[in-house]
Amino acid sequence: MAANIIDGKAIADRIRQSLKDDIQRLNAKKGIVPGLTVILVGKDPASQVYVRNKERACMEVGIRSKVIYMDQGVSQDDLLQEIYRLNQDKETHGILVQLPLPSHIDEAAVINAIDPRKDVDGFHPITVGKLFVGESGFEPCTPKGIITLIKETGQDISGKHAVIIGRSNIVGKPVSIMLLKENATVTICHSKTSNLKDVASRADILVVAMGQPEFIDDEYIKEGAIVIDVGTSRVDGKLKGDVVFDKVVHKAGWITPVPGGVGPMTITMLLKNTVQAAYQSE
Ligand code: GUN
Repeated sequence: MAANIIDGKAIADRIRQSLKDDIQRLNAKKGIVPGLTVILVGKDPASQVYVRNKERACMEVGIRSKVIYMDQGVSQDDLLQEIYRLNQDKETHGILVQLPLPSHIDEAAVINAIDPRKDVDGFHPITVGKLFVGESGFEPCTPKGIITLIKETGQDISGKHAVIIGRSNIVGKPVSIMLLKENATVTICHSKTSNLKDVASRADILVVAMGQPEFIDDEYIKEGAIVIDVGTSRVDGKLKGDVVFDKVVHKAGWITPVPGGVGPMTITMLLKNTVQAAYQSE
């Protein structure tokens, strides 16, 4: 039997609709309009598209968004000064510095400069530390979207074996901590893992974030598993996931498509974090 398709677009649309109501309530009660400021350094085409999509999504739900464009050659000090200014700016509840940054800039120094109360990306070490020890704080957007999608299946996470392929700071590591918090038994795999197929095919929940287009076929899948495909590689101009959808769809119980799975959730969680930051600002 074919798997249930987890429709990330529809789920994201529904959450955005309810965010609109939250934003109106916040405005009526406290006169606050949530504000997100994005800093984009340079002219990387992919980053420009991401930033434009974020701006559009903010506008649609009623978040005031601002993009600060900085030259590719901007000094690290000038970038840090801009962040310090935004940390003090009352209209900016969330700050996002689009990554990657040019190689002459120390990414960690930039992330560390963001006030953790405005860290809607969830990348600051204080935010990450809070996630690690279970204190409340911003959850990083893609992992938060992944957990939401898994919960949408209606299946219990507690007691399940979750396998994550990929150990990045943005996806693999934080999603493993979040699945642990949901009482899953968690295994993290990576490029040096031996017998990946054996490990993956024992997963009730498989999160694939390896960045290798169409690597995971049905042999890596346990019958009935929940499969979340975080991959977004461009191949011949088409967006491809890490999972061979057409094969895996016949074995999994649930599967996210690419596009239309995790992608729409990431920006939605950024909107949600920005609204949370605005609520917590007073
Ligand atoms: N570049 C690609 N994805 C992201 C993201 O989620 N946040 C930031 N800041 N930069 C990115």
